[in-house]
Amino acid sequence: MKKKVIVLTGAGISAESGISTFRDSDGLWEQYRVEDVATPEGYEKDPALVLDFYNQRRRQLQEVEPNEGHRQLVRLEKDFDVHIITQNVDNLHERAGSSQVLHLHGELTKARSERNPNLITDIGYNDIHLGDKADDGTQLRPHIVWFGEAVPNIEPAAELCEQADFFVVVGTSMNVYPAAGLIHYVPRSTPCFLVDPKAVPVSRPVTIFQEKAGTGVKKVVDQILLMCECVNA
Ligand code: APR
Repeated sequence: MKKKVIVLTGAGISAESGISTFRDSDGLWEQYRVEDVATPEGYEKDPALVLDFYNQRRRQLQEVEPNEGHRQLVRLEKDFDVHIITQNVDNLHERAGSSQVLHLHGELTKARSERNPNLITDIGYNDIHLGDKADDGTQLRPHIVWFGEAVPNIEPAAELCEQADFFVVVGTSMNVYPAAGLIHYVPRSTPCFLVDPKAVPVSRPVTIFQEKAGTGVKKVVDQILLMCECVNA
C-alpha cells in the first residue's frame, strides 16, 4: 500500500496564480469587511452584494491558471496516496491534476439551496443572480462555508490527518479554525513540512521552507521522495 501524503493548503498556494490572499497587506479582507460578504448575517442583510462578491471571484478564477506549487504536488501521486485538504474555494488543484482534493470551505464553481446545504449543483463559471432557484424552489447561494457555519468536511479531513505518513502545509496563516487545528491530528512521529514566505506559528516541529509555493513546494516534494528512497533502500 502506498504511504499517505496529506497536504493542507491555503490562499498562499494560489497567490502566484494571481488570486489575492485574505490577510496579507493587499489581501481581500483589506478591501471588504468579512461580516458583509462572508457571514450568514451579511447575506441576509444584502444578498445581492454577497452574490456579486462571489460572482467576481468566480469570473476571476476563469482567467487564472494553476502555478508550479499546484503542479509539483501532482508529482507525488506516482508514488504516494496524496490527499489535498484545501481551505481554498478555487479549483486550481483539480485543474493542475490532483485527483483527491477535499474542500473545507466550499467551491466557487458550485451553488446550493439556501435551505438545504446538501442540495448542491455545478454552475461552472456562471454568475448566481437573485431569483435563480435550486431544485427545491429556494434561492441559490454560493456553495461557500461562511464564518459561523459548520464545516462538514472537517471530520473526513481529521481522519486523513490521523493517517498521515507525511504532512505538508502550504500558504495558510493558520488563523482560521477548525482548519488550523488539523495539525493536532497528525501523529507525532510523522515528518511535517511548511512552505510560506512569512513565519507561521505552528505548535509542533516542522521543517520550514520560508519561501513562496512556486519554489518551496518542489523542495518539499524532492525531500519526501528522497526520504522514501532512503527508507526503501
Ligand atoms: N506562496 C506561499 N504562501 C504565500 C504566498 C506564496 N506565493 N503568498 C502569500 N502566502 C502566505 C501568506 O504569508 C499567509 O501566511 O499565504 C498565507 C495566506 O493566509 P490567509 O490570507 O490568512 O489565507 P488562509 O490561511 O487560506 O485563510 C483561511 O480564511 O477568510 C478565510 O475562508 C477564508 O479559507 C480562508 C481562510
